[in-house]
Amino acid sequence: MRRPLTLVEVLLVLALFCCSPWIVWSNTLCQQTNLEEVRPHSVSITEFGAVGDGVTLNTKAFQNAIFYLNSFADKGGAKLFVPAGRWLTGSFDLISHLTLWLDKDAVILGSTNPEDWPVVDPLPSYGRGRELPGGRHRSLIYGLNLTDVIITGNNGTIDGQGLIWWSRFRNKTLDYTRPHLVELMNSTGVLISNLTFLNSPFWTIHPVYCSQVTVQNVAIIAPLDSPNTDGIDPDSSDNVCIEDCYISTGDDLIAIKSGWDEYGIAFGRPSTNITIHRLVGRSQTSAGIAIGSEMSGGVSEVHAEDIHFYDTYSAIRIKTSPGRGGYVRNIYVSNMTLANVDIAIRFTGLYGDHPDDAYDPNALPVIEKITIKDVVGEKIKTAGLIEGIEGDNFVNICLSNITLNVSSNYPWNCSYIKGYSDTVLPEACESLKERIFPEHCSDCYNLSNHLQTSNSEHRAGQTSGDIRS
Ligand SMILES: *[C@@H]1O[C@H](CO)[C@@H](O)[C@H](O)[C@H]1NC(C)=O
Ligand SMILES: *[C@@H]1O[C@H](CO)[C@@H](O)[C@H](O)[C@H]1NC(C)=O
Ligand SMILES: *[C@@H]1O[C@H](CO)[C@@H](O)[C@H](O)[C@H]1NC(C)=O
Ligand SMILES: *[C@@H]1O[C@H](CO)[C@@H](O)[C@H](O)[C@H]1NC(C)=O
Ligand SMILES: *[C@@H]1O[C@H](CO)[C@@H](O)[C@H](O)[C@H]1NC(C)=O
Ligand SMILES: *[C@@H]1O[C@H](CO)[C@@H](O)[C@H](O)[C@H]1NC(C)=O
Ligand SMILES: *[C@@H]1O[C@H](CO)[C@@H](O)[C@H](O)[C@H]1NC(C)=O
Ligand SMILES: *[C@@H]1O[C@H](CO)[C@@H](O)[C@H](O)[C@H]1NC(C)=O
Ligand SMILES: *[C@@H]1O[C@H](CO)[C@@H](O)[C@H](O)[C@H]1NC(C)=O
Ligand SMILES: *[C@@H]1O[C@H](CO)[C@@H](O)[C@H](O)[C@H]1NC(C)=O
Ligand SMILES: *[C@@H]1O[C@H](CO)[C@@H](O)[C@H](O)[C@H]1NC(C)=O
Repeated sequence: MRRPLTLVEVLLVLALFCCSPWIVWSNTLCQQTNLEEVRPHSVSITEFGAVGDGVTLNTKAFQNAIFYLNSFADKGGAKLFVPAGRWLTGSFDLISHLTLWLDKDAVILGSTNPEDWPVVDPLPSYGRGRELPGGRHRSLIYGLNLTDVIITGNNGTIDGQGLIWWSRFRNKTLDYTRPHLVELMNSTGVLISNLTFLNSPFWTIHPVYCSQVTVQNVAIIAPLDSPNTDGIDPDSSDNVCIEDCYISTGDDLIAIKSGWDEYGIAFGRPSTNITIHRLVGRSQTSAGIAIGSEMSGGVSEVHAEDIHFYDTYSAIRIKTSPGRGGYVRNIYVSNMTLANVDIAIRFTGLYGDHPDDAYDPNALPVIEKITIKDVVGEKIKTAGLIEGIEGDNFVNICLSNITLNVSSNYPWNCSYIKGYSDTVLPEACESLKERIFPEHCSDCYNLSNHLQTSNSEHRAGQTSGDIRS
């Protein structure tokens, strides 16, 4: 007969089982697209009468060129070439199987006349414009129901010339919600790469109800005090990969969203499988990576690695509120370096900000399984301001291997949260003080094997009576 397992053996088996990542991700890089192989046909915007003098309005030229290229959609698609020059335009629509290609020193300039940015319906998952009730201005570059769209080039620039929109926001003379610079809606197979995006009127790149979106090697820049000029906002979108980006704007650098209160709950489309690698940036007023505050369709499987934020207000931020419903779970942030950051980790459970009074205050968000590991920071004011919701604790928050040089005498301020920590300096707040290993491994999302190894060695000499200490 087999002898029964000893406690140590049981724990070892448990540890091995629960610490191994249970999702196997294909690789750590975005899928590569070989641009040489696609788009047998190409036309230049100049063939459609466009004038690159920075003054002539070229909206018709862009629309006509794209209308013409539609006839190649079933023949491998086509490329619209934008040569060096300053190409002023109003909003235009992309089509499937199109590459918009901006040459070196090509600059697409957004018109400074709001009438060149038509008003369209609000998103169903928001129920109204984000800033004002009713419709919203359409983005400069817009796409709906598309497949296989590429916006790329030899480091050309798309400049939204957002100043007039920022002024109207500040002096409260907007009639409708401000436009994004690029918005793709209900589209699949989107690649945005090798370009610089400047001065968006509102959020810069907004994939909404999209799948298979890659944003690679782009710079996104707007003045640090420009209002709500988020960098990249994946919204109710899945399989999104963002890598090698530099973002410096007036709001969140990346904000992952999924709809707003009762409208987002009813629409019910989550953001999931969002990968971020090698992101560098700063946001003086807001966050490096934010989730929410609109997260009513749920946000899960967010993996962010190799991050550097400097001169930034907060590095990792989760924003939610009673009324949002939805969930934020399975979030993994690893290898982050911070310099001059006010609040390294910030969760806000009472963000407020509702579309209208019809939200259900009992629709409480579920926030769980958030792992943040391998972080070093200098010139940090506060390590964590982590606030859940009374009666709706945020749980399984796991911090590991975090070393922050903090100036505040109260480095952590936690309420209505529960979780674990391991090798965190300054030492984490009381509600996160419980050790991770071994019985809590499965509570923590995608915890690495180093904990298992280092802690097994550490515990080798201990008796089983210490296990719960
Ligand atoms: C999204 O696009 C697809 C393909 O173009 C279309 O079949 C579908 O109805 C669209 N869905 C929505 C919600 O617009
Ligand atoms: C996009 O898909 C929706 C839903 O099928 C449809 O109502 C709409 O007309 C489509 N729009 C375009 C431009 O194809
Ligand atoms: C791309 O352009 C931006 C400014 O437009 C510049 O800062 C950056 O160095 C350029 N990158 C490359 C690879 O040429
Ligand atoms: C608000 O700002 C816009 C854009 O700068 C300007 O045209 C308008 O005159 C301003 N309105 C008021 C009331 O200040
Ligand atoms: C972007 O630029 C890099 C470096 O110049 C190049 O290797 C890569 O193929 C380009 N990617 C795309 C999608 O254009
Ligand atoms: C996650 O998204 C990437 C594209 O960014 C895709 O290649 C991968 O298959 C997706 N993973 C899962 C588990 O769906
Ligand atoms: C951590 O990220 C930095 C970039 O921010 C990168 O240079 C470094 O190789 C990464 N370290 C590991 C262990 O992957
Ligand atoms: C802790 O994190 C740092 C980077 O922040 C990394 O260099 C180091 O290898 C990590 N330690 C362990 C034990 O993984
Ligand atoms: C933290 O920063 C202060 C001020 O820059 C410095 O004097 C101190 O040595 C740093 N502490 C650690 C542990 O790095
Ligand atoms: C903790 O945060 C709360 C809410 O922001 C604040 O009122 C309180 O003063 C903070 N406590 C400390 C010790 O900083
Ligand atoms: C999960 O953690 C393991 C161990 O650190 C790491 O190798 C893997 O890349 C992580 N998965 C993702 C998608 O980040």
